[in-house]
Amino acid sequence: MAAGEVRPWPVFLLALVGCLLCAVNVIILTGVDVGKISKIFLPKVDTKKAFSYLNPLRPIPEVDPLDEIDQHPIAALMRDQLKKYEQYRRAQSKSFAQVVKKYRMKYGRHPPPNFDQWYRFARKRNCVNFDDFDQIMDDLRPFWGIKPADIRAMVNAMDIDRSRVSILRVRGNKVGQTSRPDPWRASVFEKMLEVVAPFLPDLDIAMSYLDEPRVVAPWEEVQAKLAEEEKTRIQHSETANEFSKIDWDAPADVSGLDLGFFDHSGKHYMDLASKACPPESYARRPELDVKYVESKYKDPVGGFIHNFNLSSDICTVGPHLSNLHGFLFSSSTTIATQKLVPIFGECKVNVNNDILFPANKYYDFNDPRYIYNDEQDVPWNDKSPQMVWRGVTSGGVQNPDIYHRLQRHRFVALTNSSKLSETEVTIMGVVSEDDMSREYAPTFFHPAQYAEKTMDVGFSAIVWCVPDCGFLADKLSAKPGMEFKETFRFKYLADIDGHSFSGRWYAFLKSRSMGIKSTLFREWHDQRLFEWVHFAPMDNRFDDLYALMTYFTGLEKGGEGSDGVYVPRHDAEAKRIADRSREWAMQVLRKEDIEIYLLRLLLEYARVVDDNRDKIGYSGDGTEVDAADNSRFGFP
Ligand SMILES: *[C@@H]1O[C@H](CO)[C@@H](O)[C@H](O)[C@H]1NC(C)=O
Ligand SMILES: *[C@@H]1O[C@H](CO)[C@@H](O)[C@H](O)[C@H]1NC(C)=O
Repeated sequence: MAAGEVRPWPVFLLALVGCLLCAVNVIILTGVDVGKISKIFLPKVDTKKAFSYLNPLRPIPEVDPLDEIDQHPIAALMRDQLKKYEQYRRAQSKSFAQVVKKYRMKYGRHPPPNFDQWYRFARKRNCVNFDDFDQIMDDLRPFWGIKPADIRAMVNAMDIDRSRVSILRVRGNKVGQTSRPDPWRASVFEKMLEVVAPFLPDLDIAMSYLDEPRVVAPWEEVQAKLAEEEKTRIQHSETANEFSKIDWDAPADVSGLDLGFFDHSGKHYMDLASKACPPESYARRPELDVKYVESKYKDPVGGFIHNFNLSSDICTVGPHLSNLHGFLFSSSTTIATQKLVPIFGECKVNVNNDILFPANKYYDFNDPRYIYNDEQDVPWNDKSPQMVWRGVTSGGVQNPDIYHRLQRHRFVALTNSSKLSETEVTIMGVVSEDDMSREYAPTFFHPAQYAEKTMDVGFSAIVWCVPDCGFLADKLSAKPGMEFKETFRFKYLADIDGHSFSGRWYAFLKSRSMGIKSTLFREWHDQRLFEWVHFAPMDNRFDDLYALMTYFTGLEKGGEGSDGVYVPRHDAEAKRIADRSREWAMQVLRKEDIEIYLLRLLLEYARVVDDNRDKIGYSGDGTEVDAADNSRFGFP
């Protein structure tokens, strides 16, 4: 027989067998066991909806396709926060006319001069959020209660005082000569300033070069200034869309001016801070019930943070943390003032009146210790399901009496399995589970074995102790340092404050790993990041650490080290947070976003120090800019 010729008989046989198998299958599926099949739970995942996150221009889904049978408190927190985030994104203006209208509604005044140029600048840089610059207004509002000439005099005075600031300058739309430049911050600031200077009038900017925040004015005084600000909210029908000429270099007599700086290093910060808190706050009313105060930011059952903003509000948490966070009891350089001095700073706690600008480290693209590089990252599934943290022993002055209360030391101790043999923590374990629901309750758990398996945490250098670090020799050992290339091999990246905020945060958010954040500090970008959507928040006391980590990694039923507790793995949830933070950070925490923020900030600052500040601003309705835009780019 020739090759390729088909014999009809075996083919027919094969087809017959196939048909029989099909029929048997259909019988099994429809006849015998329908009840069982209909009970199989199918999670409601709409792939179209899930994918829309990857494309900012598609509509955002109403609810997240989260596993709806899971009753873990974190599942509910994720759903709530996701809704807030979606609302936030939907509400963003799509045209300059909308931006301007919203500005006037929110702040009760015209936008500053050159606001139309700011908008064009931002659009050119593919800005996706034109509206959330409340931080700028919050920071500058009190200064509307001070005369422009007095604000400028304070800046001049800092130039000759021992205030630990660098004075950055704009002259003739270019970066001018910086005075008192510090080792590195001023040079990075100059680079940012170069990009925005063409849109700015002559200007002097006092930038703190200390890690810690500087200004902490009493609450009553700030309130009085804010009341003054409200009175200045007038929208004249015609205003000049330009700044006045100010001669910053004219000799100023500031001899009588006292900026009130004093050294508060190593002392209790709450002594200053509580005066800056509202009278009804916990910081000023210690008789309030602790449980009640905690419930405002923390879930009473699992201990999970449901309001990250409040969890770092020191008028609320300060009394709990005053002996547990280095900045609050053991800071190395707090040169503070209680007067409203216009100082630009990279971070602050909520009561400070420093004017926030995007931290230099986020813009210093020459420093690979802080800048994300995709080549160093790996896909989620290639990462190890462990938590990693490395850092130096910063975050306060360490001496034998107090070192163990500093946040980084507490974190390292709490994850060191050889210290945990006696330790018991509370986590959320499954107590009942069927096809329709999975319920959890608080359960005691001995985390020693889990920590050993799951946490790779340690100091990369043991430094800066008083008198020297000898007393730590038998208590701690340094672990090898890690570059991002190694850090990103882990799924869970913890981020803990040092002397102040942590400069690694952007790289963590942009990476394919998930960030776990605890902090006391505020930064310029806070409003655009949502807890449980872009990162997992952690209490500054770390009492939720194990409940949090076991939620994501899971604890096997009866598995080794599970201590009899069962927690299902929520790896997909963690990946979703990691993906979302990456996607979002690549849109709103870029170099360009820093420039957009800085320009808007400096336009507002330039107006508040302008003698004619009540009569200048952008008074148009924005349509002329949109019309020109539409003919150039087409409408988005
Ligand atoms: C963990 O604790 C033990 C006992 O105190 C100590 O010897 C060890 O150096 C610690 N490990 C780290 C990484 O700090
Ligand atoms: C934090 O809360 C304060 C007071 O409620 C509010 O003014 C501020 O805008 C909030 N910040 C963020 C980032 O949500």
